Amino acid sequence: MAIREIIILPDKQLRLVSRPIETVTPEIRKLADDMFETMYDAPGIGLAGIQIAQPLRIVTMDLAKRDEEGELTPRPRVFINPEILSASEELSVYEEGCLSIPEYYEAVERPARVRVRFTDLDGKVQEEDAEGLFATCIQHEIDHLNGVLFVDHLSKLKRDRVMKKFTKAAKLAAR
Ligand code: NI
Repeated sequence: MAIREIIILPDKQLRLVSRPIETVTPEIRKLADDMFETMYDAPGIGLAGIQIAQPLRIVTMDLAKRDEEGELTPRPRVFINPEILSASEELSVYEEGCLSIPEYYEAVERPARVRVRFTDLDGKVQEEDAEGLFATCIQHEIDHLNGVLFVDHLSKLKRDRVMKKFTKAAKLAAR
């Protein structure tokens, strides 16, 4: 396994539409391993392939649960070619962040529940209902596969402000 570099705003690759994965090969499993290592190191709860410059429709996620003793149980999950089949009319608001937009958090409104279809690491197609943080996270990650960022869900004023801030930071870093 290896930690890969996470690309950040305003890197244009973040706007690419990722390609579907036709078969779950050993290379794809290796990519998933690297994505987990990169995600845990960051640390983050979700990562899309394009965030490590791999324009493939793959997402890693770990919404680890804390038990009564406060012990954190990891729940690593991989979603290949995930798609939303249906979404609730009811919306919910979560304070979102993104490893590609470091240290920026803003409330985003999305459907509270979604039904998702995806392929797992064994190549099996599955369907699942998501709610709460899971619903928000999978929608955020599927957006990445379509070149969409959570700041795109904000007002133009807020989005312009964050784009300007990161564009300026990138220019300073390149000097
Ligand atoms: Ni993100």
